[in-house]
Amino acid sequence: MSDVKRHYAELLGPIYTWYTSVDGDPVARAAGWLERHGLLTHAHYLDLGAGSGAHALALLRAGKRVTAVDFDTALLEELRSAAAPYGERLTLHAGDLLAYVRAATPASFDVILCAGDTLTHLPALADVDELVRESASCLAPGGRLAFAYRDSTRFAAEGVERFIEVARDATRSMHCLLEPLDAEHLRVTDIVTEIGPEGPRTRLGDYVKLRIAPERLLTAASDVGLELAARTDERGMTTLCFRKA
Ligand SMILES: C[S@@+](CC[C@H](N)C(=O)[O-])C[C@H]1O[C@@H](n2cnc3c(N)ncnc32)[C@H](O)[C@@H]1O
Repeated sequence: MSDVKRHYAELLGPIYTWYTSVDGDPVARAAGWLERHGLLTHAHYLDLGAGSGAHALALLRAGKRVTAVDFDTALLEELRSAAAPYGERLTLHAGDLLAYVRAATPASFDVILCAGDTLTHLPALADVDELVRESASCLAPGGRLAFAYRDSTRFAAEGVERFIEVARDATRSMHCLLEPLDAEHLRVTDIVTEIGPEGPRTRLGDYVKLRIAPERLLTAASDVGLELAARTDERGMTTLCFRKA
């Protein structure tokens, strides 16, 4: 099992929906992001690293057909139950997202999303390049490939500034410690404290994320003939949307 997969299975997966919901509804946030980036005009979507499905649910509510891929089966189960009213338009695939696009039928999707920082979870920058290449071939003509991720290439905090509060409520808090390892990698240590009947208990887990410069995606996309359709930086997230001719 990869470090990232284990980290989600053991620590992040069970609290993922909680920490992405403390400052508002993640499905509404995803719907706004899709709208602002012109991504609601197609019919058939592939959501890579869908998690509990903020984007997939927003798309299903908008009447779209969605294939959601993730290697965390518990998060996919959450998505399955939240999507019960739209069941027939949702296909779930439990497995590695890169393996999925490698094996997918050419030109079979109108829009491919890899959002919510999933991209930085890939094992190596070469996998990012391959993901762009393979996704381009899965897109139908006129289709879109969209990434939303945290660009940490300039992250250089020191001391206590490396600790970030992610979320908290009356019974749980979550922080993360960010430590650059080299130009391409950042170690993330998640620190989750929960108040139970016996008092507070803290759990820790770490994994390594990729530091991806937007220029890398621009080059990888242009190498396979994709044109830049939109680029934004919002709430620490960089979005790049590409169009297939
Ligand atoms: C930060 S979450 C984002 C979830 C969702 N896209 C969102 O915006 O809320 C990253 C997700 O990607 C999944 N993931 C990471 N690497 C993966 C891989 N190689 N194959 C499949 N899923 C992966 C994790 O299990 C997790 O659900």
